[in-house]
Order: sequence, then structure tokens, then C-alpha cells
Amino acid sequence: MKTTRSVVLGCGSYLPAKILTNYDLAKMVDTSDDWIVERTGIKVRHLAREDETTSDLALEAATQAIRNAGIGVNDIDMIVVATTTPDETFPSTATRVQAGLNMLGGAAFDIQAVCSGFIFAVSVADAMIRSGQAKTVLVIGAETMSRLLDWNDRGTCVLFGDGAGAIVLQAHEGDGSNHDRGVLMTKIFSDGRLHDLLYVDGGVSTTGTAGHLRMQGREVFKHAVTNIAAAIEAAAGAAGVALSEIDWFVPHQANQRILAGTARKLGINPERVISTVAEHGNTSAASVPLALSTAVEDGRIKRGHLILMEAMGGGFTWGASLLRW
Ligand code: UT7
Repeated sequence: MKTTRSVVLGCGSYLPAKILTNYDLAKMVDTSDDWIVERTGIKVRHLAREDETTSDLALEAATQAIRNAGIGVNDIDMIVVATTTPDETFPSTATRVQAGLNMLGGAAFDIQAVCSGFIFAVSVADAMIRSGQAKTVLVIGAETMSRLLDWNDRGTCVLFGDGAGAIVLQAHEGDGSNHDRGVLMTKIFSDGRLHDLLYVDGGVSTTGTAGHLRMQGREVFKHAVTNIAAAIEAAAGAAGVALSEIDWFVPHQANQRILAGTARKLGINPERVISTVAEHGNTSAASVPLALSTAVEDGRIKRGHLILMEAMGGGFTWGASLLRW
């Protein structure tokens, strides 16, 4: 049966120039390169300059994605930015990007689902496209996580980095089968009872400040593999796709041990896992599109490949998305 699919026309990414190594961090808190690499796989992360905002990073990634998509800015009729580190409390970072692109029509708004933001944004964009409310949607994950970190807390400050990634989705007609290009299925979930395991201790209606990220890492870790695996099984099951058909697994880049554990639990070949955690750290909503972009640029992801994306983050929120490139 003919159906509308949200097809990826192009992607892009941006990482700020400044790099912070594990050795740099060992001069700031009681940690070591050995501990960070062994427990997380992270070696370096990028940090935004003081005058560089989330929308600046988003704009760079978006510009590259639009160029790679081969479309004009005014072909876009919707911008969805997933971020937990907006430039300002309002307006949305997406409207800053819209102005930066000089885009004259359409709608722009943010989505807040922390590290799962990009998966949630893909879900919303795909629903907008399939319902006919939008034709061409720019979906961005962009973060300046460095602004939320307590640089005295070694349990969190070694984990995160800044960056942005973007994709352009466009409505195309498919035949309704799993061989169609585009988003085949996305499943998103949340459980607000797990707030205390991962949150920011500030906000507009509480402290009036931006606050700092707080995490019970070991507890989050315990939930991560279980929740991610369940979301993947839900998405693959609903799409009628066997995990053995997946060409590339593009997970949220929080911790190499979580990536490997999830792949092992689901029987996914480790050679099919895209890992950028060593070079990017955890860039929250930017991590999946950054990893996608990396694997497209280096030629691993090719047109027609079946891609499985997933993420989990504060809220808790989690989800998985299957798409054919
Ligand atoms: O993207 C959102 C989702 N977030 C995640 O998925 C993060 C999930 N959690 C994790 O990735 C891991 O739990 C961490 C990397 C955060 C921590 O690894 P862990 O193996 O769970 O370590 P732990 O928290 O159990 O801590 C082990 C020890 C503790 O010392 P004691 O109590 O055993 O003496 C910590 O104080 O390691 C200590 N520690 C550190 N040592 C050196 C914690 N952070 C550091 C550090 N350097 N940076």
C-alpha cells in the first residue's frame, strides 16, 4: 500500500574546535586517563567557546546538512531542534536557527527529551511529514553540555561534550514495505518516576538559575541497557524487521560499555556498531546525528542501508528508530 515516508536527503555535523583531553581533566579533578577510558571509552571531547551558543553549533550542522541535501533553505517548512541546553529560556533555539538560516516561512520549535531528544525529534518530524503538516523538515540535535557541568564533580564532568548534528527529512512516496527508503518506525518512551537518577538542579521555576547536571551513574547504567534493548525490540517488532537485517547500529554515545552491552544483549555484530564516544564524549541530543554524520562521511553508511538508532536520557526518556538511508 502506498505510504508517505520521511526520507533522509542529507546530514551534517559540527564540533567546536577546542578539545579537552582526559589528561587535561586529570589536572582539574581527581581522575585519570586510565579510569575514564576503562569505564567509558572516552578519550577527548569538544567544548564550545565562551561566545559560542547552542544555536551557533546547530546552525553550522544545519548549513552542512542543507548543502548535502541539495535543497534551498526555503524548501524547508519545519525546523525541530532537540536540545537540553537552549541559548535562552525563550524563544526556542530552533527559531534562532531559523533566523540564522534566513528562512522566511514555516515553523520552528524545540524538543526537550535530554539525551533521547534526537530520537523524539525524528519521531515528531516523521509524524508531521506523514500527516501532511510538513514536507521538508530539518531535524537537529545540538548541545553545549559543558555549560551544565559541575567542573568539580569527577563523576559527571569527564563524561560530556558539546556538538551538533542535523538531518533533512523529506516526504517521499513509498510502497509501504520495509524496503522503502526513510523512517520505517520510531518508538519513544518515558518514566518520570526516575527523575532523581539524572537531572539538573536548577531551572526557571525552581532556583531561577540554569543549575548543574546531577547523576547517579551506576543506577542510570543499570537501566540503560534494559530500556534501550526494550525500545529496539519494540521498534523492530512493530516494523517487522529482524535485527540481523540491520546494516548499522547508531546508538547514543554515552559509554562504550553501554554500546557494547546493548549490542551483545541483542546479538548485534560489534563491527556494525558506529562508535564515536572516544572522540566526542556524551553530547546528549547531538550524539546520534553526530555519529550518523561521521559514518556517512567516512563511507560506511550508504544509500539503501538499514539504520537502527537509539538513545536514553534524563526523565527518564528512551527510544529507538529504524530508517533506511
Ligand atoms: O546520556 C545519559 C545517560 N547517561 C549514562 O548512560 C551514563 C551511565 N553511567 C555510566 O556511564 C557509568 O556509571 C559511569 C561512567 C558514570 C561511572 O562508571 P561506573 O563503573 O558505574 O563507576 P561508579 O559510579 O560505580 O564508580 C566507581 C568508583 C567510585 O569510587 P568508589 O566508591 O568505588 O571508591 C567513584 O567515586 O569510581 C569513582 N569515580 C571516579 N574515579 C576516577 C567516579 N568518577 C570517577 C572519575 N575518575 N572520573
